[in-house]
Amino acid sequence: MKNILITGGAGFIGSNFVRYTLEKESGVKIVNYDSLTYAGNLDNLADLPDQDRSEFIEGDICDGGHLDEVLRKYQINLVVHFAAETHVDRSFLSPEIFHQTNFIGTLTLLEAFRKYYLTVDESRRKDLHFHHISTDEIFGSLYPEQEPFSENSLEKPNSIYAASKTASDVMVRSYFHAFGLPITITNCSNNYGPYQYPEKLVPLIILNALEGKPLPIYGDGLQIRDWIFVSDHCRAIWKVIQNGTLGQVYLVAGTNQPTNLEIVREICSLLDEKIPESKYYPHINLILHVKDRPGHDRRYALNTEKISTELGWMPDLKLREGLEKTINWYLEHPGWVKNVQNQPNYQQWLESNYSSRVRSE
Ligand code: NAD
Ligand code: TYD
Repeated sequence: MKNILITGGAGFIGSNFVRYTLEKESGVKIVNYDSLTYAGNLDNLADLPDQDRSEFIEGDICDGGHLDEVLRKYQINLVVHFAAETHVDRSFLSPEIFHQTNFIGTLTLLEAFRKYYLTVDESRRKDLHFHHISTDEIFGSLYPEQEPFSENSLEKPNSIYAASKTASDVMVRSYFHAFGLPITITNCSNNYGPYQYPEKLVPLIILNALEGKPLPIYGDGLQIRDWIFVSDHCRAIWKVIQNGTLGQVYLVAGTNQPTNLEIVREICSLLDEKIPESKYYPHINLILHVKDRPGHDRRYALNTEKISTELGWMPDLKLREGLEKTINWYLEHPGWVKNVQNQPNYQQWLESNYSSRVRSE
């Protein structure tokens, strides 16, 4: 039996990864370590399949002593590190928290893992592995004519979030070279799917549209992102853990690049199809251009040749298919939605981020 420590497993991708792992990987036991910030939600872990193979521990990745204890107690073989502050718009308001969690937290976790690694018998060390989850945002922005980023592109982060993730990636990589720790890293594009906190574009647009609220588009809405359905990302992470080369970075993406306006229009058209009787039909009329994000990255795109040729991974879901699944999930989980919407932090965030932004164009 493999014992996995998943950090940030009560968040969006982490909880999907916990569920995916319990469904697909029979020989593993999960320790889910999460400090339950505003983005961590135990409702994300309700009705897990095969609950007995998963244990939740409330804990902070900046708490080295606690991590030492957990790694030892559960004889962890594999760390999959998701825990982070993740929202770009929030990062402008609190750079210190992003630095603390994403950089210091990752460093603290690496140090705990290094100490633990040294206590493990040399013959068993080949079974240990640390996988770090990161983002395409570390590379900065592309001009329209530029080739997609590859594993060899230079890091040029623009937001506070991206800068803090870059620092964490570089530190993880250095632990491979400096200490020979068995690490791998994936940098993935924008995820969407079930359980995503509705501060991010896709769930925010779905929920606002259902309530007939404005659909806020930052600036001209011609910014380009690559979008991947979350279970495709989970599958890529397992591929890299099982077959990737230690010390290597792999880029993961959905290989589509709509503009923000296009993805919002797609969501509106799916909602029109699903709820033609809605009084907000056609939902596209709810679109409202608002003040842009500072230093807003114009375009992200990733070359995924390495993971596809070396490991045979490709995304399964097309964007419209994935968006439809996502919309269905939000429609089928009104209780989850209500609980998140009733959090004071969520209401305060909507007020502070959007009231000052709104301007008609
Ligand atoms: P999320 O914001 O939904 O969840 C983050 C989780 O981390 C929460 O459960 C939170 O409670 C936990 N956490 C935060 N600080 C912690 C701390 N100090 N100690 C322990 N737990 C803590 O994030 P997400 O969207 O699921 O992203 C997960 C990871 O994937 C992050 O590392 C992020 O950078 C990366 N990533 C996200 C995307 C995306 O589109 N969402 C894309 C590529 C990479
Ligand atoms: P987001 O989901 O916050 O992810 P990220 O900033 O990590 O890419 O935003 C996706 C894109 O959508 C990004 O270009 C910003 C834009 N956006 C809006 O236009 N309006 C919004 O209300 C939000 C939250 C994002």
